[in-house]
Amino acid sequence: MLTREGFLTGFVCVGMPRTAAELTLLFERGSELPADRSVLLRYDGPDYEPSINGAFDPGATVCWCNGVTGGAIADAVEAGDTSVASIGAATRAGTGCGGCKMRIGEVLERFATVGSTP
Ligand code: FES
Repeated sequence: MLTREGFLTGFVCVGMPRTAAELTLLFERGSELPADRSVLLRYDGPDYEPSINGAFDPGATVCWCNGVTGGAIADAVEAGDTSVASIGAATRAGTGCGGCKMRIGEVLERFATVGSTP
């Protein structure tokens, strides 16, 4: 990663799709990098478990390719989208690499069980 004053100005990422997607979002949006940059490496770690790391938090990113949060998915569900495909049509979640479709399904399951914002 190349940074300037806490902002990503360039990067190369090989074999880490979740990290690459997050870095792409940070780069494209000009967002400041997290203070603990090792967080970015944990997305592709073998012990990464979205349900433990707060994927059900409305502000947590569920789809890294398109920057879709759990809250945006909850909004789509409340608007009547109840499948991974319809969530994708409404929010673009899952329409990139597809690596988040299982997490989208987990949020949908959680929503169905809890009956409110995941
Ligand atoms: S993380 Fe790639 S489509 Fe969602």
